[in-house]
Amino acid sequence: MTEAAATADALPATPAAVAPERDLFSKFDALIAEREALMATGVRDPFAIVMEKVLSPTLAIIKGKETILLGTYNYMGMTFDPDVVQAGKDALDNFGSGTTGSRVLNGTYSPHKDCEEALKEFYDTDHAMVFSTGYQANLGMISTLAGKGEYIILDADSHASIYDGCALGNAEIVRFRHNSVEDLDKRLGRLPKEPGKLVVLEGVYSMFGDIAPLPEMVAVAKKHGCMVLVDEAHGMGFFGPNGRGVYEEQGVEADVDFVVGTFSKSVGTVGGFCVSNHPKFDVMRLVCRPYVFTASLPPSVVATAAISIRKLMHAGNKRAHLWENSKRLHGGLKEMGYTLGTETPQSAIIAVILEDQTQAVALWQSLLEGGLYVNMARPPATPAGTYLLRCSLCAEHSAEQVETILGLFKAAGQAVGAIG
Ligand SMILES: Cc1ncc(COP(=O)(O)O)c(C=O)c1O
Repeated sequence: MTEAAATADALPATPAAVAPERDLFSKFDALIAEREALMATGVRDPFAIVMEKVLSPTLAIIKGKETILLGTYNYMGMTFDPDVVQAGKDALDNFGSGTTGSRVLNGTYSPHKDCEEALKEFYDTDHAMVFSTGYQANLGMISTLAGKGEYIILDADSHASIYDGCALGNAEIVRFRHNSVEDLDKRLGRLPKEPGKLVVLEGVYSMFGDIAPLPEMVAVAKKHGCMVLVDEAHGMGFFGPNGRGVYEEQGVEADVDFVVGTFSKSVGTVGGFCVSNHPKFDVMRLVCRPYVFTASLPPSVVATAAISIRKLMHAGNKRAHLWENSKRLHGGLKEMGYTLGTETPQSAIIAVILEDQTQAVALWQSLLEGGLYVNMARPPATPAGTYLLRCSLCAEHSAEQVETILGLFKAAGQAVGAIG
C-alpha cells in the first residue's frame, strides 16, 4: 500500500463539519467601542501614560513636560532614598539580577530572609512571609486559609486581589455592606457556628480613601469566633506610632490574626507579605500555591525593601508632614466646591468625584496639561457609575507643591466646568 493510500484509509469517509471559530474577544466589543468613542473626542488615554524620566518621588517628565506626581502610592517617598537605592545596587552586584526559582527551591537568598526579619521587627510579630506581590499575598493567604466548607466574610468594596483570593479557593463567600458593622454582625449571625471563618478587612479603602472602623469590626468578628485578616496596603508607613497601619493606630493589634501588605506603596518597590503570630504560620510556606508556584523576588528588590522597612520605623516626621499635606489638599479642594470621597481627610488618598466619564477625563487631561498627574479611576475599580480622580499624597511633597496643586485644580476645574 502506498503512503497516500494508507493515509486515505485512516480518514473517515465523510469529514465532520468544521464548527465556525468563536472569537473569544467578542465579549469585549462594548468596552472597545466605548474606549474608541472616548478617544475619538481627542482626549489623551488616561491608561497609557509613560514616565519618560522620574526626577524624584514627586516629579517626573511626561511628554517632555515636568509634571508633579499626585497619583503614585509612594506615600513615604522612599523610592529615591539614597540608602534604599544603594542597597539595591549592592544586592545586584552580590547576588545577580534574579533568583530564577521559587522560594521553596532555589529562590531563597539571604536578602529574602533579611527582608522577613525586617518585617518581623517592623510589625513585632513572630512570623513574616514575603510574596512576589501584594496581589499574590492576598491571593495566597485568603485561598489557603479558608477551605471547603469554611467561610470568608469580606467588605463589598474590597480590593480585587481579595475578591480573586476568594475566587481561587473553595470557601463559601459572604459579603457585607461597606464598613457596616451592623451588616457584618447580621451576616455572621446567620452562619452555622461550627465551620472556620475568616473576616477580611482593609485598613484604608483605596478608592475613596476612607478608613475602616476596625475596633468595632474586629470585636464583632471575634464575638462570632472568626479569625481576622487586615490588608494594610495603604495604611503601612503612614498610620500608627510605628507606621504599622490603621490596625495599630486604632489599637487592635492583639486581635488581628494576619496582616497583609505590599512593598509597592510606602515601601517604594514591589512585593507583598503577610505577618502573623499564629504558631503554625510557617506551614503556609508548603501549602500556599501563590507562594510556592512562582519565582521569588529579585534580591535587589528585597534588599531595598528591607532597608526601607527599617527606615519607616523611624519616620515620625514624614508621617506628620504627610498628614499636613493631606489635610491641606482635602480642605483646599473642598473649599473650591469639589465633591470628595470623604467628608474629612482620613488618609493620604483624596478622591475627587466627577459627574461622569467625560468630565473625569476632561479634568484629568486639563490637569496633566497644566503639569499635574493624578489617577483616573473608573468601574470596575470603582462602584458602578462612579468616575473619580484619585489623588495620593507623598511625604516628599513640599507645602509649596501642595499650593501649586491646588492652583492647578482650581484652573482646570473651572476650565472644564467641574467647579464654579
Ligand atoms: C488594598 C490593596 N491590596 C493589595 C494590593 C496589591 O498590591 P501589589 O501592588 O503589591 O500587588 C493593592 C494594590 O493596589 C491594594 O490596593
